[in-house]
Amino acid sequence: MSFTNRVFAGIKPSGDLHLGNYLGAIKRFVPLQETHECIYCVVDMHAITVWQDPKILAQSTREVAAAYLAAGIDAKKHIIFNQSQVAGHAELAWIFNCVARMGWMQRMTQFKDKAGKNAQNVSLGLFAYPSLMAADILLYKATHVPVGEDQKQHLELTRDIAAKFNNDFEKDFFPLPEPIITGAATRVMSLRDGTKKMSKSESSSLATIYMLDDEDAIAKKIKKARTDPEPLPQNFDDLENRLEAKNLVSIYAALADISPQEVLNQYGGEGFGVFKPALAQLAVEKLAPMNKEMRRYLDDKAQIDEILKDGANRAREIAKTTMKQVKDIVGFIS
Ligand code: AMP
Ligand code: TRP
Repeated sequence: MSFTNRVFAGIKPSGDLHLGNYLGAIKRFVPLQETHECIYCVVDMHAITVWQDPKILAQSTREVAAAYLAAGIDAKKHIIFNQSQVAGHAELAWIFNCVARMGWMQRMTQFKDKAGKNAQNVSLGLFAYPSLMAADILLYKATHVPVGEDQKQHLELTRDIAAKFNNDFEKDFFPLPEPIITGAATRVMSLRDGTKKMSKSESSSLATIYMLDDEDAIAKKIKKARTDPEPLPQNFDDLENRLEAKNLVSIYAALADISPQEVLNQYGGEGFGVFKPALAQLAVEKLAPMNKEMRRYLDDKAQIDEILKDGANRAREIAKTTMKQVKDIVGFIS
C-alpha cells in the first residue's frame, strides 16, 4: 500500500518553550510545509502525565500554538490543533496498549529518567505515554516525524507497534514512520552544564533560553554561559570533550543555518570574548522577532482558540477514517 507523505509532530504544553524545542523541533517543522502535508499538534494529553495546574494548562497550550504560528506554520494550508479535541488519539492509544508488550515499555529510557527512584508513585499515564505517542502519529498514518534526538527511541517503539499491528491484523495497514532528526542542534544542552539537556525543568534560570525571553535576557544568558578558557579550535572534531563550547557552536550553526564546521571556519582561533557577543547578537536577531510575534498572537486568545478548533475539525475528519478502519479490523461493531 502506498501512503501520502504526511508529517505529524507534537510538543507538550507543560512549561515554557525553550531554545531546544525551537532548534530541535519547531524550526525544522517550517520547511516541511513545502514538501509534505503537515499536522502539528499541541499534545495536552501527554502534558497531564505529570501534574499540570488546570489554570495554567490552557495558557501553555496557547503558547505552543502561538510558537507554531510565529515560527511560520500556515494553519490554513496545514493543521494546528490540540490533541484532546480529537477523541481518536485516546481510542487508538487504548488499542495500542493491547498491542505493545510490557517489556518494550519497560525499556524506555525517558520513563526511567523521569520516574527515577519514584517509579511506584508516578502516573500510569507516564508509563503508557509512548503508546499514546504512537497513536498520535499512526491515527493520521503519518510517514515522517520531525523530533529532537531524545525522541528517537519513542519513534522506534512506534514502528514496533505499527509492525506488530500489521502482523497481528492486516498487512501494510499502518506505515512505519521515519523520524527526521536533522540539523546542528538535535540535542541542545543546558548553558550551565554541558552534560545536561536543556529542558523545561532546569532549576537555574541562566541555563535555559526561553522563547519568550526578551533581548536582554537572551544576551545575558549567553554572556553568562559556562565555557572553558581555551580559544575555539579550527576543527569541530576537536570540541568532542569540550561540551559547553560544542553546545554554543552548535547553537550558532543551527540559528545561522550553517554547519558547525562553517562556524569554526569563521571563529576558529577566537576566544569566547569574541564568540559570545557574536552568538548573542545572532540569537537576538533570530529570536526577538519571533518572540514579538508570539506575544501578538497571545494577546488574542479567541483567535488562537479558533485556529485550534478549526484544526481539530480537520484532523478529526482524517482520524475518523482511520478509526473506522481500525475498528473493523479489530472486530469492534461501530
Ligand atoms: P517536549 O518539550 O518534551 O514536548 O519536546 C518537544 C520537542 O522538542 C521534541 O521533538 C523534542 O525532541 C524537542 N526537544 C526538547 N528538548 C530538546 C533539546 N534540549 N534539544 C533538542 N530538541 C529538544
Ligand atoms: N513525546 C514527545 C516529547 O516529549 C512529544 C510528542 C507526543 C510527539 N506525541 C508526538 C512528538 C508525536 C512527535 C510525534 O517531546
